[in-house]
Amino acid sequence: MTNIVTIDNVEDLRAALFEHRCARESIGFVPTMGFLHDGHASLMRAAAAENDVVVASIFVNPLQFAPDEDLDDYPRDLVGDTALAREAGVHYLFTPVRDLMYPIQPVATTISVGGLSEGLEATTRPTHFAGVATVVTKLFSIVGQCKAYFGEKDFQQLAIIKRMVIDLSLPVDVVGCPIIREPDGLAMSSRNTYLEGADRTAAAVLRRALDAGVAAVDAGERDPQVVMSDMAAVIESEPLASLDYVAAVDAASLEIPSTLAGEIRLLVAAQVGRPRLIDNCGVRI
Ligand code: PAF
Repeated sequence: MTNIVTIDNVEDLRAALFEHRCARESIGFVPTMGFLHDGHASLMRAAAAENDVVVASIFVNPLQFAPDEDLDDYPRDLVGDTALAREAGVHYLFTPVRDLMYPIQPVATTISVGGLSEGLEATTRPTHFAGVATVVTKLFSIVGQCKAYFGEKDFQQLAIIKRMVIDLSLPVDVVGCPIIREPDGLAMSSRNTYLEGADRTAAAVLRRALDAGVAAVDAGERDPQVVMSDMAAVIESEPLASLDYVAAVDAASLEIPSTLAGEIRLLVAAQVGRPRLIDNCGVRI
């Protein structure tokens, strides 16, 4: 198990990382909003396997929450998070407060990534990705040159961050890591803590919808609309789930092609009880 140092200010983190850079040590970075689970641990372990030093951040970023979302209730557990991060090989846990990240409010400078930030999640969360892109840019600017690890569960977010790093020439190598699931297929998420009773069982329907999409493609279906309606039918068969969207998109452009070919991503979003859940998987044709 590593020693872990918690740092809540930019100067100390930069000074610590400067020492490692002088020693020519590579830096892995895992940005999070805390309430860590095995999905986060898998990112941290990947960062530890590929780098000399691992930094993780915990910051519940107000900029990516709409006024009607769960910013104030977002689950928090710094003691548990520190134990998980230490176990997963993190050396530095960066835990800035809101005023440190956004000293002048309202924030005047934001990052918006065109194209990829439209549709899918953005349809119901139109300001979300500008909030994500802005905080991730700030975190990259604080941590500096690094390899940064993100889960594929937030597939649109990952695509946006990869594009942003290219467009802004940020000195960051973005690594996407596979989704970690519960035994019944539910993708791990901090918001799964909101699932209670029958809703928790019903939540596995997202995975089953993706399976139906994959089965259709495997059976030779190439019309995205047919694959999407197969996926939607599975969500609609679960009375406790309310469908937001299903999509079969080109994995690079995130657009629905006229015919499915190449690297395809199947995505689903549904409300199950309190949380709105998302999931996705890849299929290669
Ligand atoms: O995926 C998340 O947890 C957040 O969107 C991120 C990337 C840490 C930015 O706040």
